[in-house]
Amino acid sequence: MEDAERFFEILDNKNFIFFEVMLESVEDERAWLEKSFERKKNNQEHNYTILLDEKIIGGCGIKIRQHRQFIGEIGYFIDEEHWRKGIATEATKRLEKIGFEELGLNRIEVWMHPDNKGSEKVAVKSGYKKEGFMRKCVFNKRKQGYQDALLYAKTKKDYLASQATSSVSKS
Ligand SMILES: CC(C)(COP(=O)(O)OP(=O)(O)OC[C@H]1O[C@@H](n2cnc3c(N)ncnc32)[C@H](O)[C@@H]1OP(=O)(O)O)[C@@H](O)C(=O)NCCC(=O)NCCS
Repeated sequence: MEDAERFFEILDNKNFIFFEVMLESVEDERAWLEKSFERKKNNQEHNYTILLDEKIIGGCGIKIRQHRQFIGEIGYFIDEEHWRKGIATEATKRLEKIGFEELGLNRIEVWMHPDNKGSEKVAVKSGYKKEGFMRKCVFNKRKQGYQDALLYAKTKKDYLASQATSSVSKS
């Protein structure tokens, strides 16, 4: 909770044009963080802070689809100062390990706006497969309208196969 100001500082960025969370103030961020504990307890969302040299530089998390709790959706945001250093890709790798190995997921999705090239590249580099173009499936509160999204996903089977390949190549 004491980091609310820092999170707000990162998120209050006009270049976060594709990010859906709409915070107007540090108070909104505090309210969001406060509810995060409850959402974790109820297996709705599992959110994490991203630290670099002990400084907060972003956040990431997995939302659990409530009527199909074997499906999770990954999301991430990074302080603009640290874009393009591989941090979101590393965060995705750690999140999916938690998702598949601890939360019992069988499938992880990443949704992004079709023009969000950075987020799409994170998904591709992390080994997610493009499954579709979903029409009008996201509601943008700021624009008060529905938007399209790309769907990328990885199954537990894909994950285990990639783990096996990486352990063979390491040995
Ligand atoms: C999208 C975002 C999370 C990417 O974070 P990041 O830490 O910069 O991502 P990575 O460094 O792991 O990038 C992975 C690849 O994408 C590339 N990339 C990153 N941003 C890019 C952009 N805007 N356009 C094109 N490529 C981009 C990186 O260069 C890297 O490719 P490379 O290894 O070939 O150089 C970050 O830009 C962000 O926080 N944006 C605002 C919030 C947001 O849109 N979140 C996603 C919601 S779906």
